[in-house]
Amino acid sequence: MADKYEQVIELAKRRGFLWSSFELYGGTAGFYDYGPLGAMLKRRVENTWRDIFVINEGYYEIEAPTIGIEEIFIASGHVGGFSDPLTECQKCHEAFRADHLVKDVVENPDTLSADELTEIINKNNIRCPECGGKLGTVYEFNLMFKTTIGPGGKRVGYLRPETAQGMFVDFPRLLKFYRDRLPFGATQIGKAYRNEISPRQGVIRLREFTQAEAEIFIDPRNKTHPKFKEVAGIVLNLYSQEGQIAGEMQKMSIGEAVKRGIIAHEFLGYCLAITYRFLMRVGISAEKLRFRQHMKDEMAHYAADCWDAEILSERFGWVEVVGIADRTDYDLKAHAKQSGTELSVYVPYDKPKKIERFVVKPNMGILGPRFKGKAGKIANALKALKPEELKGDHIELTVDGEHIKLEKEAVTFETVTEEVHGETVIPHVIEPSFGIDRIIYSLLEHSYSEEETAGLEEEKGEKEEKRIVLRLPPEVAPVQVAVLPLLTREELIKPANEIVSMLRSAGILVTYDDSGTIGRRYRRNDEIGTPCSITVDYKTLEDGTVTIRDRDSMRQVRADMSGIADNICGLIYSGKPFKEAGTKV
Ligand code: ATP
Ligand code: GLY
Repeated sequence: MADKYEQVIELAKRRGFLWSSFELYGGTAGFYDYGPLGAMLKRRVENTWRDIFVINEGYYEIEAPTIGIEEIFIASGHVGGFSDPLTECQKCHEAFRADHLVKDVVENPDTLSADELTEIINKNNIRCPECGGKLGTVYEFNLMFKTTIGPGGKRVGYLRPETAQGMFVDFPRLLKFYRDRLPFGATQIGKAYRNEISPRQGVIRLREFTQAEAEIFIDPRNKTHPKFKEVAGIVLNLYSQEGQIAGEMQKMSIGEAVKRGIIAHEFLGYCLAITYRFLMRVGISAEKLRFRQHMKDEMAHYAADCWDAEILSERFGWVEVVGIADRTDYDLKAHAKQSGTELSVYVPYDKPKKIERFVVKPNMGILGPRFKGKAGKIANALKALKPEELKGDHIELTVDGEHIKLEKEAVTFETVTEEVHGETVIPHVIEPSFGIDRIIYSLLEHSYSEEETAGLEEEKGEKEEKRIVLRLPPEVAPVQVAVLPLLTREELIKPANEIVSMLRSAGILVTYDDSGTIGRRYRRNDEIGTPCSITVDYKTLEDGTVTIRDRDSMRQVRADMSGIADNICGLIYSGKPFKEAGTKV
């Protein structure tokens, strides 16, 4: 029997959600096309993400090139270290991720070096999964697609492996846009590219995929969140570092987790909360979602804390779909060093602060004649001295390797009180990074079901005893309403077309379908997730009412044709209960 993945992919292919790319030429692993329904579903999911991150949080969207110049990825560490361990079969020459091949014999294989992996493969006599051949020495394979910019091949470029770098590189411009105030955030939804070694997991591991990322720049001294109270009560399945050691997941409120130091701080906790809200809105099942903290040896070198939202899939187990990290000041410091531009923010204090400052004033009347051209350097070294270094009978210092001993009269010093109005900080970055394609597959799997319909009153007259239904939330369903004249008769087609026009004018995506029996048409719409269908029949001609059928319950109500657009908008966008859409049939 087909497993859930096969069932979902079969439906997705047949009904125009997902197609293997380049099928005409035999296809290539790691690439998928979104067909007409898939592309619409994806847009709607992205728009829900926009609603949360751009509209509600105010993190404006930017659009940077998908090709980046080499300097960016040297600074980010991708040129040096964005690789996976590869081993090749010496017989059939198939390539494999070495860490995946050893996962049954060691824990956390992604923390091992290439040499360690080679040793484990040899010691355990792990062979090629395809042909049983001997596997070669493991080496690090860089996952970026390399290219050249312009003719001549002089300028190296890379297809971006994450959208995040666009926001870091635009930091000075973004800071001005947000009028030099922290915190602020920028987002990007776009393609990322990784030359994955052996993408055998269909849409879960792609070589070209869509990320939706937010880079939120915050004051490193204040990681609280002004709206934390609103989300503190949300209960999540947390799989913390300690939980993983003990092998148990905990249900805990975000407020409690931050209080107990399990989640590092409020800002990160807030990002977990809005990630949860987003995943719920697009149709992920709460009980198949957990937040797993990275173990200490798994954490990226720049991260202070990192949580992955993982979704349970029948075939693949727990799959990471979102990474939420506190990236500290790593990226801004790295780009500042690479570009030679300071990337920091001057943060004014609410009230000026009085500070005491120790000031050393070199006596140039003594230093000048004695040290001539070197006097300036010595004066600067004296200015940097601390009070305790000026306590003895003499002052001793080393300048350019020369030991210098001076009498106390060479300087005067005092403590002055100064008013300071602010200080310069390098922001820390909180990054929620979403993989849209994995989320699309997961919500298809979670919303897919096959149901017995035999004997159901509403579906009377239908021969089929089983229906496939995608219980997609109306907000993301690619087609929102089906309009169905009961029979292909001119007198029914005319009002059906009027309804189509009314709905389209209200911005609703409608499908019109008049072929086949009514039951078959309901089934066709159930399996693409259309939340409701409107049937026009002879009663419509008598009293101006139509039947509205609910996809999930298969219940039907009778409602006026006039005002149908408002009625449907209520069902799709405002969560109006179906029974309020009309009178029970
Ligand atoms: P994995 O360990 O599964 O390779 P990752 O840790 O490399 O994932 P990140 O670098 O954190 O993933 O990327 C952020 C998000 O981008 C992931 O949570 C995932 O949803 C998505 N993503 C990463 N690689 C791929 C891919 N090859 N195909 C589809 N989505 C991906
Ligand atoms: N920006 C996080 C990642 O793609 O790894």
